[in-house]
Amino acid sequence: MATHRVDGFDAPAEGDLTTVEVDGAEVGVTVVDGQVYAFDDECTHAACSLADGELEGGAVVCPCHFAKFDLKTGAVLDGPAMRPLGIWQARLVDGALELER
Ligand code: FES
Repeated sequence: MATHRVDGFDAPAEGDLTTVEVDGAEVGVTVVDGQVYAFDDECTHAACSLADGELEGGAVVCPCHFAKFDLKTGAVLDGPAMRPLGIWQARLVDGALELER
């Protein structure tokens, strides 16, 4: 399991979406009910940026064809995506974002 630390991270406001770069790949980050969530910022359907999408409760909805993914598990809640989304374990520690998976 690899841990990545993003120092000086400005957590998004509740319900906002942002991205950070980890090893050259974009990771989407959001906060829902005070909990930070992180996920691969590439829809498993046709690679659109999920950070350009919207939140719906504990799910992120792709802006391109509206696939919906559970932020905790990455499970597909609505198609057309078939494959689950890659999820990171995320926490805020002393002004830094720590990501692990
Ligand atoms: S690219 Fe996300 S639903 Fe098609």
